[in-house]
Amino acid sequence: MTDLIDQLKAQHEDLRLALGLLRRMADQIDFGVEPPAADCALVLSYLLEFTFAVHMPLEAKTVLATVAAHGDGLAVECVGKILRTQSEAKSLLDCLRVMWGLPEGLALGERAAMSATIRALDRILFQCMKIEEDQLFVAALRPPADDLLDWHRESLAASDGRGAECWRQTLQGIADRLS
Ligand SMILES: [Fe+2]
Repeated sequence: MTDLIDQLKAQHEDLRLALGLLRRMADQIDFGVEPPAADCALVLSYLLEFTFAVHMPLEAKTVLATVAAHGDGLAVECVGKILRTQSEAKSLLDCLRVMWGLPEGLALGERAAMSATIRALDRILFQCMKIEEDQLFVAALRPPADDLLDWHRESLAASDGRGAECWRQTLQGIADRLS
């Protein structure tokens, strides 16, 4: 079962890389520089198509479900906080995608809003990862192994579509272009 936790931690490193790229794009926006459009769109697609569509559902069906069923009160509260925060993060991502898709480009005030939205999304997704790594990944491994048997099946099911490795290469390519 630690295999899945290792897999989720590796996905967090990819997410940290993606958020770092977005922060650099927010810096560019603040300095009045247009961030690279295709790369920005790719990072937003990564968040939508992998982080929110693959990583978070996999965590929900394995780690969060296990902690909700077997964890103590504090751990269960953390599960609720993660789910609420993920919902808030999804709203911020939806806002970013709308702003980025405006056909006429961003006006000055909208540029400031986009930068602020990126920084808010960055902050709360970092919070989510810290809570998961410090508390929930540990709590999820406490129940008897027999209660965790579905993890492997969920992990295999989540690997459909464009996988983590493909996205990792895409993100690294963007990082190389921005450096
Ligand atoms: Fe996570």
